[in-house]
Amino acid sequence: MSAPNKSFDPVEVTALQPEEVARARDEALAAIAAAGDLDELKRVRLEHAGDRSPLALANREIGALPPAAKADAGKRVGQARRAVSDALKERQAVLEAERDERVLVEESVDVTLSTGRAAYGARHPVTTIAERMADVFVAMGFEVAEGPEVEAEWFNFDALNFIPDHPARTMQDTFFVGSEETGVVLRTHTSPVQIRSLLSRPLPVYVVAPGRTYRTDELDATHAPVFHQLEGLAVDEGLTMADLRGGIDAFVAGMFGEGLKTRFRPSYFPFTEPSGEVDMQCFVCRGTSVERGAPPCRTCRSEGWIELGGCGMVNPRVLVACGIDPDRYSGWAFGLGIERTLMFRHDVRSFHDIVEGDVRFTLPFGTEI
Ligand code: DAH
Repeated sequence: MSAPNKSFDPVEVTALQPEEVARARDEALAAIAAAGDLDELKRVRLEHAGDRSPLALANREIGALPPAAKADAGKRVGQARRAVSDALKERQAVLEAERDERVLVEESVDVTLSTGRAAYGARHPVTTIAERMADVFVAMGFEVAEGPEVEAEWFNFDALNFIPDHPARTMQDTFFVGSEETGVVLRTHTSPVQIRSLLSRPLPVYVVAPGRTYRTDELDATHAPVFHQLEGLAVDEGLTMADLRGGIDAFVAGMFGEGLKTRFRPSYFPFTEPSGEVDMQCFVCRGTSVERGAPPCRTCRSEGWIELGGCGMVNPRVLVACGIDPDRYSGWAFGLGIERTLMFRHDVRSFHDIVEGDVRFTLPFGTEI
């Protein structure tokens, strides 16, 4: 700050002359009154009340005046600045109120207007039915287990008691990852999750494993190279085929309603002994379509029964491969086709519909997400 200067005549300092101060104030007041919105007022504030405004500059000059002149000039400039700042405050309030009112009108939403129909995504029926199938077992205390789709041959075949040149290996039409020597395959069934579960979980084990599986099949009405299975496995002390039957019956009741019979037919799988194919009574005709003169049933093709999948008592060799004492523990297992279940439960005629992704197929299943 410059020192007071006795020979300094305030009248000579233009910025402090009364007319100058009044002019600066009036210009400021006029600009404030003319500011049409808050942005403009901000600019006006900077120009007329900011550090470099005429009144701020005048204020700075006061320090250099002789003491006698200071009070008078200070009063004048002070009054002018106060008038400007009061006017700014007032205009600010007015413009803010105007803006608030405008926003209320401009940004109001008519909640009674109909919204456009946004097409929501939804999970595929294969996913939702797989979850429903697994849920029936989860309700019985089973846990959901997972395994990789790119699987070691050992898990997919060896540990499941497929001997090296077992015809079932070729029967399963395996996709190898790289050459056949790599020992890595795209899993041909969800049964390797049995092995992974037994190796990683404490006994007893009660798991279901829904998942994607691969075989070198051409896509046709009943086959696809990529499909899904639901695997089930129970290993505990004292389990018998009665428990397997009970588990399957509870599944049928949970998915298709009470009162449908099930039946086992002998079959063969290397990892179960004995093995079976399990059928359920047709949930549409409830078996009546086989009777003479009865109307035909397209769900079971008037056979009265629908094939559910494979099952059996876990082969002791599988338990041994997983380090489990087969004299103490026994188990049962099953494998169900998820697309197959979707097809007969919802009268889907062709695998093509399931894989093509046409919403005309999926929409009737609802938009469960
Ligand atoms: N993994 C068999 C398949 O894909 C199905 C199967 C049969 C699974 C019997 C099982 C079972 O767990 O016990 O053909």
